Amino acid sequence: MSTTAAETTTRREPDHQDRLYAKAERALPGAGLGGYSLPDHVRFVIDEARGARLRSADGREYIDYVGGAGANILGANHPAVVDSVQRQAARGLHFFGTLNSTAIELAARLQEIIPCAERLAFSTTGSEATAYSMRIARAFTGRDKVLKFEGGYHGNHDYASFSIAPSGPANYPFAPPDTGGVPAPLQDTMLVAPYNDLDAVEDIVREHRDDLAAIVVEPVQRAIFPAEGFLAGLRRIADESGAVLVFDEVVTGFRLALGGAQEYFGVQPDLASYGKIVGGGGPLGCVAGRQDIVDCASPRRKGRSDYAYINGTLHGNPVAAAASMATLDVLSEPGFHARLNARAETFYREMQAVLDARGVPARVVGGASLWQFLFAERPARNQLEVLASDLARGAALDLALVERGVYVLPNVRRFVSAVHSEEDFAQTLAALDQACAEIM
Ligand SMILES: Cc1ncc(COP(=O)(O)O)c(C=O)c1O
Repeated sequence: MSTTAAETTTRREPDHQDRLYAKAERALPGAGLGGYSLPDHVRFVIDEARGARLRSADGREYIDYVGGAGANILGANHPAVVDSVQRQAARGLHFFGTLNSTAIELAARLQEIIPCAERLAFSTTGSEATAYSMRIARAFTGRDKVLKFEGGYHGNHDYASFSIAPSGPANYPFAPPDTGGVPAPLQDTMLVAPYNDLDAVEDIVREHRDDLAAIVVEPVQRAIFPAEGFLAGLRRIADESGAVLVFDEVVTGFRLALGGAQEYFGVQPDLASYGKIVGGGGPLGCVAGRQDIVDCASPRRKGRSDYAYINGTLHGNPVAAAASMATLDVLSEPGFHARLNARAETFYREMQAVLDARGVPARVVGGASLWQFLFAERPARNQLEVLASDLARGAALDLALVERGVYVLPNVRRFVSAVHSEEDFAQTLAALDQACAEIM
């Protein structure tokens, strides 16, 4: 790794990180913790964090825009969140079966905050929340099919593993699986449409109307914002067809605004799924929505065809609930989101100026506190336009940043947090300037 990376602080033994890699290579598939791995020349092991700064096991410091995949809107160890977690941990790390007081307090709080939340059911992750939303929608409507959008990510479960990253134009609404191991018959239950294209949605829904349980959408798909009227159009189409409209707010929830995309765009879904910020960095997600729909998950309905089973050992985990409550306290401070979004937008303009000055044909896309670089003439409106951009150059720029102590994942949407400082931004702009010079 380049010695021009961000300032080096305390160093452990020189081979500490290498020894960790050797253990990871032996224990973990691809020496990774999931679907991502950085190339060898820039990879690092996170050892600890302070706010928006990460320290690697070999003592380098990184400015963190990955932000725990978006969970860390207050940075990695906000004092109020850490304090709340420690106090709850002393009272019990985990319970199961009957209610716990912290989970009830959180449920009531979320009901006040989330516009569509007449009721809500806890999960442990965002993936579980989206899987539950589909199951509940099926149980409620008695129908099987779910329409999702090409390029939309809804987690790791089988029903979500279609058309996330297609390699070329699709034969809509046929949805190809993205991974091995997905049973072929599931394909018949998933339909895919291009994002931001209401005409295509209308055609597909007309064709499958009697079987369609749900339309599931990321209100901001990756870093692509919805075209004017798109979400409202989905609301209308869902109403006309009797399908349940599900917003996957795992990323947008509590980030775009306290009330998430529903508040930001002024469109209310029937159900919404949450993860990431709702757990304050801990393992917690939820499905919220209309009472008549979410009540399908009531254990009092067991044995009925409109009962949707929801259960998990960690559901309503009190430590994650405590992290969530402390996070929501900070996010509820007046002006929190206006400040965060305005600082982020200024930072995007400054990055764009650096790209322009260096003649790099890329743009900073996204909005509010989520962003990405796109090597294209204009922001993409759907996944095919993302595919048509110069992804190789996008990855090269991102990796050149990592080399200089700015942690982003290649071509993956990233985040500004409330604890990024002006110094973090200034250092990032300087690193970007150098990275641009390198890739040009
Ligand atoms: C929009 C969206 N939905 C669902 C998920 C899955 O959440 P989790 O990783 O907590 O299972 C993610 C994760 O990145 C996401 O971005």
